[in-house]
Amino acid sequence: MATIYLRPLTVRGLSLCNNIVQAPMAGFSNAAMRLLARRWGNPGLCFTEMISSSALVQNPLAQQRYLFLYPEEGPVAFQLWGRDPHILGEAARVAAERGAAAIDLNCGCPVRKILAAGAGVKLMEDPVFLGKIVARMRQSINLPLSIKIRLGPSLDRSNAVEIARIAAEEGVDLLPSMAGMVAKAMARPADMSGSPRW
Ligand SMILES: Cc1cc2nc3c(=O)[nH]c(=O)nc-3n(C[C@H](O)[C@H](O)[C@H](O)COP(=O)(O)O)c2cc1C
Repeated sequence: MATIYLRPLTVRGLSLCNNIVQAPMAGFSNAAMRLLARRWGNPGLCFTEMISSSALVQNPLAQQRYLFLYPEEGPVAFQLWGRDPHILGEAARVAAERGAAAIDLNCGCPVRKILAAGAGVKLMEDPVFLGKIVARMRQSINLPLSIKIRLGPSLDRSNAVEIARIAAEEGVDLLPSMAGMVAKAMARPADMSGSPRW
């Protein structure tokens, strides 16, 4: 059954051997975990842990534990978090220099520290501003660009489709979506009813 859905994928010139993606996981998806995922599950694309865009721009060397790639790893997408369009654009450029195969912007994180910085799922509250961030990041890199979103920023607001349209217009290539509202954090089962389709 699974083989029906398993297929190679090419995104903005990046050829992936299949369309399985290992999700970004803070505290977990480091190089060692990605290597294990690669060996045992062979995902076409792996994600880093989320990386602070401002820390990356200010002192990339201090971010080495997030940036390290094993030579035998396949394509790795670097996930960035932040709010400032200029800093995110610059961080995307640095990440590209450090070997990123793709860049992702975290638009789904519900953790207090990230929300306090106006980042993570807070970005979904203002789709127009999010579009400006995406445009700035798009200018900085030619790599595949994605934004990882939720269905909406709050229980009473589901704007994933609006954001998907704006993001696509500004040059986003992929749209990983966590099928849940922020208030439901890691609720199971996933709510697939509001996932963007167009
Ligand atoms: C421990 C843990 C850490 C996570 N960290 C991140 C993260 O840094 N960035 C992100 O976009 N999503 C993060 N997520 C969400 C996952 O990427 C994924 O979207 C979520 O677990 C839903 O997938 P699942 O149903 O297969 O668990 C994390 C999830 C877990 C369980």
